[in-house]
Amino acid sequence: MPANALTSEHPLSRRYDKLTILLHWATALIVIFLFASSQIWEQLERGTPLRKGLQSLHISFGITLAAIIIIRLIWRATAGRKLPPADASTFMHIIAKLAHWALYLLLIMQVTLGFLFRWAQGEPFMFFGLFPVPDIFSVDPLLRRTFGMLHFYTAWTIIILAGLHACAALFHHYILRDDTLKRMMPPTR
Ligand code: HEM
Ligand code: HEM
Repeated sequence: MPANALTSEHPLSRRYDKLTILLHWATALIVIFLFASSQIWEQLERGTPLRKGLQSLHISFGITLAAIIIIRLIWRATAGRKLPPADASTFMHIIAKLAHWALYLLLIMQVTLGFLFRWAQGEPFMFFGLFPVPDIFSVDPLLRRTFGMLHFYTAWTIIILAGLHACAALFHHYILRDDTLKRMMPPTR
């Protein structure tokens, strides 16, 4: 059998369940959009409608990401199919696990910082223009700079770590020629 063939019989060759795959790629796309949107609006003049529009999309997709992360963690801890590590080496497995948990932790931190940053800015905000998000905590406006700075550095840390994580997945696929990446891909007919 070719090394790259994904079969359902072998325990290391089972695909993740559909919801896990969907939530993974939704997370990846939204994180990339959130980062890219901030890089684009920084090039635009303050106060322009496009800049403001991108910022409110950033916040709305940020809120969507918060919901996805919660669903993802609940699904993972309950019904989500648990797969054995795709990599046989214990060392590589530990590194991969550490990277995955670091990503979850950084995403939770970043979403929390995003809310705190926005509340510290003291401007009301909407979820895709549908309903206003209540100001749950009255955050001291003096903390705005601190939250902004932490939000900025956490964003870069996520992008760098997710980039390394993606490189590792591609290394598995193209160099080691195993099923690590295929297990996270939707099935093709
Ligand atoms: C993984 C998730 C996220 C990433 C990667 C991300 C990334 C960024 C980046 C790079 C900036 C620009 C920071 C700067 O240049 O100082 C920014 C700004 C901002 N983000 Fe996020 N963000 C995320 C999630 C969120 C969430 C969940 C919210 C709110 C609910 C949020 C609200 C904001 C706000 C309010 C700003 C400042 C906009 C302004 O200048 O008025 N972010 N974000
Ligand atoms: C911002 C982007 C991304 C984030 C935040 C992210 C996050 C994660 C997390 C947290 C996991 C662990 C899943 C779990 O065990 O619960 C994971 C798994 C995985 N990711 Fe990503 N990911 C991103 C982008 C990518 C990209 C671009 C690729 C492929 C090129 C990729 C390929 C994979 C694969 C193959 C797995 C499964 C690894 C295994 O079975 O051990 N990810 N990802």
